[in-house]
Amino acid sequence: QPLVGLVGWRGMVGSVLMDRMQAEGDFGLIEPLFFSTSNAGGKAPAQAKNETTLKDAFDLDALKKCDIVITAQGGDYTSEVFPKLRAGGWTGHWIDAASTLRMKDDAIIVLDPVNMPVIKNALAKGGKNWIGGNCTVSCMLMGVGALYKAGLVEWMSSMTYQAASGGGAQHMRELLTQFGTLNSEVKALLDDPKSAILEIDRKVLARQQSLSGDEVANFGVPLGGSLIPWIDKDLGDGMSKEEWKAGAETNKILGQGAGFGTPATPVDGFCVRVGAMRCHSQALTFKLKKDVPLADLEAMIAADNSWVKVVPNTKEATIRELTPVAVTGTLTIPVGRMRKLAMGPEYLGAFTIGDQLLWGAAEPLRRMLRILLD
Ligand code: HSE
Repeated sequence: QPLVGLVGWRGMVGSVLMDRMQAEGDFGLIEPLFFSTSNAGGKAPAQAKNETTLKDAFDLDALKKCDIVITAQGGDYTSEVFPKLRAGGWTGHWIDAASTLRMKDDAIIVLDPVNMPVIKNALAKGGKNWIGGNCTVSCMLMGVGALYKAGLVEWMSSMTYQAASGGGAQHMRELLTQFGTLNSEVKALLDDPKSAILEIDRKVLARQQSLSGDEVANFGVPLGGSLIPWIDKDLGDGMSKEEWKAGAETNKILGQGAGFGTPATPVDGFCVRVGAMRCHSQALTFKLKKDVPLADLEAMIAADNSWVKVVPNTKEATIRELTPVAVTGTLTIPVGRMRKLAMGPEYLGAFTIGDQLLWGAAEPLRRMLRILLD
């Protein structure tokens, strides 16, 4: 069985990855070697077979023995270790959740239900670097990839509602702590049905505006009861890095744009952090290349892969099935609110949601492992 090194398996994305690998029987097909950046020599998890001791994740010789390394350790680890491994002559497969290598020419962004031909083509040419995409982009393409595959998209605008988990585990804790702090501030008034709502609102606002230090250490400003219309770095040209990724990665995943000698599809919009836990939601506007009946568009999307689900555009179906609460912890990618917009028959609106730790992070990685094992 191939020797597969696992790095960063204990973190949030790594833990979801381990659960999914366990559920799908992936460990039955590999000889796992567990690495740690902080606890080398410690005991490996129950999935370990012959080697039950944790290896040092910076031990290049131990890593070089692996046929495949799969890492969810993060970008700093990738920047530190990957170039040294390759410079040392290692020719194994590197599967990575971090964004560090994503846009490199010799790296493929893996999302096989959408870009299996791109993956197969790279494999045939000896490709070795397989990188998970940005969570928002991967979830969006799992939902509406059919429209791109059909060549129907002239441009797309995405307005996102991104969960705290995209920042990391500490961000989720910070959000919940803020909700608790705000609730405590007005608990007595809330318990009294006769209290004045504007008094409650005033107190909540005062407490939000006084949140400081540890209370906002991760997001920098309050998120509980608010939102933050900027995600990731400031690129200095008015665009956030998360917004840049939407266009750059969508095109790279689809195998189109500058690097492929074909025109890129313009994809742009605003990325917004909201107080959801781990599902990224997005409102999409498409300019289609032609007027296609709504029912045909719905059918194309529904038939695209096993996980996408078209939610009828009714209030009842929407509020039951098209929310982060309904989707979290599942691989289902609902696409709803589909309708032609007032701008004209080529303009399509849609709303889609995905668990950013599943299709947004862990799932494409373990599926790439399975493709390599085939
Ligand atoms: N950049 C994403 C976010 C995380 O902050 O929501 C995963 O790509």
